Amino acid sequence: MRRKLAAGNWKMNGTAGDLAELEALSRTYPSPSVDVLICPPATLIHRAAQTVGEAGIKIGGQDCHTASSGAHTGDISAEMLMDAGASMVILGHSERREDHAEQNEDVRAKARAVMDAGLKAIICVGESLEQREAANTLDIIGGQMSGSIPDQSTGENLIVAYEPIWAIGTGKVPTLDEIGEVHDFIRARLERRFGEGVGRSVRLLYGGSVKPGNAADIFAVSNVDGALVGGASLKADDFSGIIDALQNA
Ligand code: 13P
Repeated sequence: MRRKLAAGNWKMNGTAGDLAELEALSRTYPSPSVDVLICPPATLIHRAAQTVGEAGIKIGGQDCHTASSGAHTGDISAEMLMDAGASMVILGHSERREDHAEQNEDVRAKARAVMDAGLKAIICVGESLEQREAANTLDIIGGQMSGSIPDQSTGENLIVAYEPIWAIGTGKVPTLDEIGEVHDFIRARLERRFGEGVGRSVRLLYGGSVKPGNAADIFAVSNVDGALVGGASLKADDFSGIIDALQNA
């Protein structure tokens, strides 16, 4: 049985005052029946971890360097994220692939660093609108998976998030059939590469304009084990609607 995961990606949003949202979530979900994760900006990870304390909510990072330490001004290692209180790290988000020209092999090296440090990697894949319209979606996702997912992956240390770029922050969402097609494809690829046991145990998240109003429908799609949520994770009230939908799925 795969444990469901509601993951919030705060992106470059949040200062100390916003920890109140996390406090509210902690109060509402002292021991959630699904995994609940918030990935605040790096500056807030330590305080976020202190805010949730021993509560059921987990804290994650949004990126890391491939090395564990060294002369890399401005970068943060997986070990440092763990030291600050993170247990998972988002990698290869399309915004990093675009803003920082991250390639699949960069994402794979980062994922290795995360797994070696004992953290879980949430590896993001997803097609652009152009690629979808050219019917290249599955080819793109397949290529991103082969290139970005390291060989040492297991059901324990790997989570894959399908985030169509055109659905991020736009209010546009693929049809449920389209989401199901990609998630079934990702599952089949994982089973083929890692064997059925591991392939079936990796959690698959959908991300892109998930809101309280569409979450229940999305969570009913086959091979959707949760969501990676941007905008709607910033406010405890909105994110609660998504967590509730996942708990009831
Ligand atoms: P939105 O939920 O704001 O569309 O963002 C999705 C996302 O990019 C999460 O990583």
